Amino acid sequence: MKSMGLFFGLLAAAGVAAAPGKDYEHKVKETIAPPRGWTRVKPAPADHFLDLRIGLPQRNFPLLEQHLYEISDPFHERYGAHLSKAESRLWLRLTKRLWFCIARTVRSPAGDWVKVRVPVSLAEDMLETEYHVWQHEESGDAVVRTTSYSLPEHLHVHIDVVQPTTTFARMKGMRATYRFADEDVQVADTAESTIPIPSAYNGQVNASCNASITPTCLRELYNIGDYTPQAADVNKIACTGYLEEYANFEDYNDFNAKYLPEAINSTFDVIYINNGSNDQSLDDAGVEANLDTQYAFGLSYPTPGTFYTTGGSPPFIPDDITTTDSNEPYIDWLAYIQSDPSPPQTISTSYGDNEQTVPYSYATRVCQEFAQLSARGVSLIFSSGDDGVGDGDSNPATQQCFTNNGLNKTEFVPAFPASCPYVTAVGATWYIPEETYRISGGGFSNYFPRPLYQDVAVPPYLKNLGDTYKGLYNTSGRAYPDVAAQGQWFWIFSGGENFRIGGTSAAAPTVGGIVSLINDARLAKGLPTLGFLNPLIYAIGAIVPDAFNDIVGGSNPGCGTEGFTAEVGWDPVTGFGTPNFGKLKDIAVGDIGGLLDF
Ligand SMILES: *[C@@H]1O[C@H](CO)[C@@H](O)[C@H](O)[C@H]1NC(C)=O
Ligand SMILES: *[C@@H]1O[C@H](CO)[C@@H](O)[C@H](O)[C@H]1NC(C)=O
Ligand SMILES: *[C@@H]1O[C@H](CO)[C@@H](O)[C@H](O)[C@H]1NC(C)=O
Ligand SMILES: *[C@@H]1O[C@H](CO)[C@@H](O)[C@H](O)[C@H]1NC(C)=O
Ligand SMILES: *[C@@H]1O[C@H](CO)[C@@H](O)[C@H](O)[C@H]1NC(C)=O
Ligand SMILES: *[C@@H]1O[C@H](CO)[C@@H](O)[C@H](O)[C@H]1NC(C)=O
Repeated sequence: MKSMGLFFGLLAAAGVAAAPGKDYEHKVKETIAPPRGWTRVKPAPADHFLDLRIGLPQRNFPLLEQHLYEISDPFHERYGAHLSKAESRLWLRLTKRLWFCIARTVRSPAGDWVKVRVPVSLAEDMLETEYHVWQHEESGDAVVRTTSYSLPEHLHVHIDVVQPTTTFARMKGMRATYRFADEDVQVADTAESTIPIPSAYNGQVNASCNASITPTCLRELYNIGDYTPQAADVNKIACTGYLEEYANFEDYNDFNAKYLPEAINSTFDVIYINNGSNDQSLDDAGVEANLDTQYAFGLSYPTPGTFYTTGGSPPFIPDDITTTDSNEPYIDWLAYIQSDPSPPQTISTSYGDNEQTVPYSYATRVCQEFAQLSARGVSLIFSSGDDGVGDGDSNPATQQCFTNNGLNKTEFVPAFPASCPYVTAVGATWYIPEETYRISGGGFSNYFPRPLYQDVAVPPYLKNLGDTYKGLYNTSGRAYPDVAAQGQWFWIFSGGENFRIGGTSAAAPTVGGIVSLINDARLAKGLPTLGFLNPLIYAIGAIVPDAFNDIVGGSNPGCGTEGFTAEVGWDPVTGFGTPNFGKLKDIAVGDIGGLLDF
């Protein structure tokens, strides 16, 4: 009982816990129904180690949120007045006594996560629970988790969340799992013709781009033209990597040699978090990591790129449970980035999971930390998921989309973090002229209510939908995605091979690269970066007709339905559509507050 005795003892000393000597009355903090698709195998071995993360409350979150909305509202006088690291901490200031106590415990650099490594036996005492080995039926992966845990009653207000306990998420890269063979190339690469594209795209696109995406195609399609970054000395862009996805330098250089000759021999920074690595053997090259870095950094070159590789053991085999099981990598990445005095202004992430597999308390906490990062002027871009409205079961016959809460209710399955209102979620299109790509994740959160900035765009869509899908989705939830981009047939290099790949995983770094270019244009004019994008996106979407290429028609099937239909204006399939860089840049470097003059 040593380390935790010390922790509770310090809490007591700080005056936030019960008097020493008094019995700790435990009260249930969180209970979940046994998750679908997982089997309880056996009790967890008492000496198995858990890296517990204890999230301390962010007391002034409503103030931080208000501040975030003011500085992200293009019509507010404080637009762009991003917070410094110290200021963002100030808004979330913990009580003095708790600080005093935490200062004496191991804590994350941001100060609001306590990290303790304890054996299962001790964790069970602390949390008055029983850990088991749970096995995921489909993949065979196993984790040590519980479905309920308790804390001394007087600590409930001082502790938001303890994990790993009830999190059964299986975060995955959101690339489509298939790749296309060369024989499938539908439009010859050597095509000499160009496709005249609708005026919204401002020009012509090489016919080869119809089913063969390169950085040049995206520059033509999204009206980037020959824009050259001016502020590469102060602007930065980053991609996150998890699950032992490694970004390979040789692949990166091969990619540049073939598609972006001006970037040949350029490189990117790697930041290792929680013992993450970036193994350079070609056998270990990660398709997701290579796709993300090649496109996010390729589109924004020569803006310096950073690849964050966050460790965290992947789920392990039940018979081999001697290793440490952390597997909550967002927390480790957030703790790192919150401590960075000048984080990259644009960060793209192509990982996520079904919202219902992430416990509410954990999702809320992670989402609030995204808000904190947004308030510091960082644009957070996430892929919207590759399963339409569904749950990732690729067989339409068995796709039933049950809720995880023990009731087995049929419902669409929203994705997290795309469902967090403080991030920008990106759906997918394909072909030219662009169409809805049916895999594009979209829908409505069951955890987060609809934010104010969506109050003009979303209700008309719901009204038009009427009773269709009634009960299958949450009409009052945060709706996503916000925007879209091409998400299929992206040429990449990985493991020394050159092939095409797709998914919203491709769409997110594309939007990330474009946002970084807009930030570049603003920085070059001495303006602050865009920061949290959504209030601006929804204002532009409502006011400026062709800043986004509206995608109309098509849908995102799942759960045995056709899914939502892409309509004129915003929809939960492609958001407002795909970006017109030229137009967006002109708005961004002009008088944003003058949007109303359009
Ligand atoms: C179209 O792209 C192909 C392949 O990149 C290239 O060989 C061709 O010259 C391009 N055509 C035009 C008209 O730019
Ligand atoms: C692009 O490919 C799609 C699917 O094959 C086709 O429907 C469309 O007409 C093509 N676009 C052009 C401009 O040829
Ligand atoms: C790139 O690096 C290689 C190997 O160091 C060198 O031979 C080549 O000249 C470089 N190319 C450019 C354009 O700098
Ligand atoms: C860090 O990773 C290396 C290899 O990837 C491993 O050998 C080492 O045990 C890890 N350290 C910790 C503290 O997990
Ligand atoms: C929910 O589905 C699971 C698996 O199909 C089944 O074992 C369980 O009995 C069902 N529960 C209810 C309440 O229908
Ligand atoms: C629907 O969303 C609201 C707002 O986020 C939430 O309070 C409610 O619990 C959700 N309903 C269901 C059935 O998940």
